[in-house]
Amino acid sequence: MNIATQTSPARVLRKVRGRAASDGAGVKLTRVIGGPDLPDLDPFLLLDEFGTDRAEDYLAGFPDHPHRGFETVTYMLDGRMRHRDNHGNEGLLTPGSVQWMTAGRGLVHSEMPEQESGRMRGFQLWVNLPAREKMTDPKYQEFAPDRIPVATPAQGVSVKVIAGAVGEVVGPIVQPATDPLYLDIALEAGRDWRYLLPEDHNVFTYAFEGAVTVGEGDDARPLETHELAVLGGGNELHLRAGNQPARLILVAGRPLREPVMRHGPFVMNTKQELMQAFVDFQEGRF
Ligand code: FE2
Repeated sequence: MNIATQTSPARVLRKVRGRAASDGAGVKLTRVIGGPDLPDLDPFLLLDEFGTDRAEDYLAGFPDHPHRGFETVTYMLDGRMRHRDNHGNEGLLTPGSVQWMTAGRGLVHSEMPEQESGRMRGFQLWVNLPAREKMTDPKYQEFAPDRIPVATPAQGVSVKVIAGAVGEVVGPIVQPATDPLYLDIALEAGRDWRYLLPEDHNVFTYAFEGAVTVGEGDDARPLETHELAVLGGGNELHLRAGNQPARLILVAGRPLREPVMRHGPFVMNTKQELMQAFVDFQEGRF
């Protein structure tokens, strides 16, 4: 990431509130990116927040389904999810763990809750791949919670660094194509933090506990729980919690600026490639 020598305050360009949706075999979730309000934010194709204490909302899980041409990033906050794919990979996502899955040319996998009661909460983010990497071999970057470093860049501010860097603290995910930043930020009540955003990236933040103020002076805007803010206009982000603690994710990626042809779990560059994905899946070539 290039760090600029001059700073100017970042501000909220637009705000989006997620919409209730259902996916997999009927899992209830909130779609924040990938719906009508914000179809995408290059290179991000989708952001789902799942969060419920009701087992009937998640028990059906996500049985076998394919992906091709992009990456799925699952960040578990609460609950346990078992992952299996048709290449023999299997893993258990526990609270605080991250799975960054490069689907590449394709795989078929299932994501099923490994619990019958209690809270299930987390995020799934889809990150596009450039044309030259869409047909790469599938691979995983999977990290248990103790492998995700925590930065404390200011008093009352704690940041889990999944991807990118906060000062000297560097997250474990490696993806040069989009150079992602993925932070889980916890602010104690009344605390604030300034962070220099990566240059030339698209950036959003999403509050999932409490509320924050984003930006400086006349440009400061409130961000409530379950609201996403697209950020821009400057490179220094200022976040401030109100009289309650707040927690949010801050995500950035270098845009690919390529044509996107997507249908369901396939994201390619051309219609021809999209049709080929359906044929390859149906003929068992994933
Ligand atoms: Fe999936």
